[in-house]
Amino acid sequence: MTELSRRKMLISGGALGAFGALGMASPAQARSMTPWTWAPSGSVAGSGAGVDPRWVWDEEADPLVASLLDRGAVPEVNRLLWDWNRNDQPLPAGLPADLRDFMERARRLPSWADHGKLNTAAEFNKSRGLYLNLLNGVGGGMLSTAIPKEARAVYYSKGGADMEDRVAKTSILGFAVGALNAYRPDGSCMVEAVKTRLVHAAVRHLLQQSPHWSGGVPISQEDMLVTWHTLPTYAMRMMRKWKVPMTKAESTAYLHVWQVTAHMLGIRDEYIPATWEAANTQSDQVLPRNMGPTPEGVELTDILLGQLAEQTSPGSVSRPLCNAFARYLVGDEVADWDGIRREPVWDRVIAAAWPALVKFREGLIPLPLVPESAWVIDEAARRYILFYLTKGKETKIEIPTTNRPG
Ligand code: HEM
Repeated sequence: MTELSRRKMLISGGALGAFGALGMASPAQARSMTPWTWAPSGSVAGSGAGVDPRWVWDEEADPLVASLLDRGAVPEVNRLLWDWNRNDQPLPAGLPADLRDFMERARRLPSWADHGKLNTAAEFNKSRGLYLNLLNGVGGGMLSTAIPKEARAVYYSKGGADMEDRVAKTSILGFAVGALNAYRPDGSCMVEAVKTRLVHAAVRHLLQQSPHWSGGVPISQEDMLVTWHTLPTYAMRMMRKWKVPMTKAESTAYLHVWQVTAHMLGIRDEYIPATWEAANTQSDQVLPRNMGPTPEGVELTDILLGQLAEQTSPGSVSRPLCNAFARYLVGDEVADWDGIRREPVWDRVIAAAWPALVKFREGLIPLPLVPESAWVIDEAARRYILFYLTKGKETKIEIPTTNRPG
């Protein structure tokens, strides 16, 4: 383990507030390992064995990628997949036959994918892009560092050594899901999701060889569900909290694009929630038992917020602004776990300015009611999105062949 901040760890282990943003019950629950009771009747499959997803991984991709790694085939596979970018693009020639067979199956949309809903979701993602990028990027990022297994997996895997590149890579999928053509022939969601599924399978194989890793095979179906809930389920809860107007068709469609993405990432249909109600129930079951502080999460948070501050607005104001915005997005309990500093001035400014900005953007209040400070946040948010849109174009999702060096 490199130099982890003990001081920050002390802060993060300190005060535990209300788990507002995530609708969580109590901090005590965060550590208890309650049995799996979520009913598969609430899933897109409608039925299932009800097996605890802590003990299920990806039975198709895992042995395949382990074998590719053992055969030393991954560098050549990465080279071949570099130019595989569009949903409608044939797979490149020269891939190992077992990988090709798997990818041909894995790139297909599930039979239940509904193109009408996907189109509505695309329009919704476009019109609510600012909120969604912030919620999924900054909010989701700050939540992921408060998920011990995920924070440690990211920290000790190859990408942990270069977080700017890692975030740029992750945002490739995020932007693909939010794009107008996400699952259309000229989009890239199927490609990026299948590549990510292969990356996760590689991480499952590689991390177990890391001297720093303990805790068995990483990235179980439950772990993936946890992360999934920090994306659409969390974003929807926050948009509701901010009173962002939306129709039933829009909220259903937004769920749908993420249901399809879950399937494409290798989450089994029997675990993918069919409705928002089922999603919220599942989220309440899996998040509390999977969240809490770690030294790795605190260090990753510090790196991420440092980068965010640099990218959004150079100058001394930017880090306090980013700390305050991050705290506002995830709530006090998670912010404390992440070791995010309290910012007495900015914490108050954001709590007043952001809701006003949302109301103004949604046409609910006139301009004079928006505090000046809201435009500083608005500008910072735009710069953040632009930064990762640009960065994401310079890099690609690739299968790792090693863990974090050192
Ligand atoms: C890689 C997304 C769940 C750990 C990636 C990548 C994406 C992604 C897009 C490729 C970017 C890259 O290679 O750096 C997602 C989504 C998830 C999910 C959408 C759930 C819906 C998880 C979970 C864990 C995890 C649950 C761990 C517990 C990792 C790690 C990498 C990775 C360690 C590889 C980093 C490296 O290159 O070293 N993920 N992920 N992911 N993910 Fe996930």
